[in-house]
Amino acid sequence: MRRKKYAIGMLVFLMVLQLLSLSTAIVAAAEAPKEGAAQEAPKEGAAKEEAGPAFEAPKLKPGDYPQTSWFNSREAVWVASQVHLFFGAFVLAVPIFVLVIEGIGVSTKDERYDHMSHEIMKVTMTAFSLTALSGGVLTIFLLAFYPDLFK
Ligand code: HEM
Repeated sequence: MRRKKYAIGMLVFLMVLQLLSLSTAIVAAAEAPKEGAAQEAPKEGAAKEEAGPAFEAPKLKPGDYPQTSWFNSREAVWVASQVHLFFGAFVLAVPIFVLVIEGIGVSTKDERYDHMSHEIMKVTMTAFSLTALSGGVLTIFLLAFYPDLFK
């Protein structure tokens, strides 16, 4: 009986998650420019802000990036951001699993689940430091190797 309740709870939780992602997709679709809108000629006297974004993204050429002798600066930024995202995704996702495992432990009153979730959280705590460290490295790399970042 308790297991059935837990299974229903999990299903509801997953459905809420699914609905959340669906609502994000609906908002994105509503905000996307309508088909054919690009072809319409802009009305005379229309405010400039309506025509496009307030700030244009800088169009950089390879020569604009700082040249480094023994490594490629663009690849260095890419590697740093990938490492940061891997650890970031890990530390944001794992606590959700830990919560689910704790939930199973509470509903089954089996202490092994509690121990398991504590062990997993210990690993996550180390990953938190590595995420912050790689975030710091990424910030420095962006500042050093990404021209026009703050323009
Ligand atoms: C444990 C803590 C952290 C987590 C979970 C985390 C997670 C993330 C995630 C998910 C992104 C991607 C955001 C996106 O795609 O829009 C991101 C981007 C970034 N993070 Fe972190 N981060 C953490 C700590 C830090 C720290 C301490 C720093 C700097 C000292 C940092 C610097 C950055 C930078 C510069 C970016 C790129 C910004 C951008 O893409 O707009 N992060 N972080």
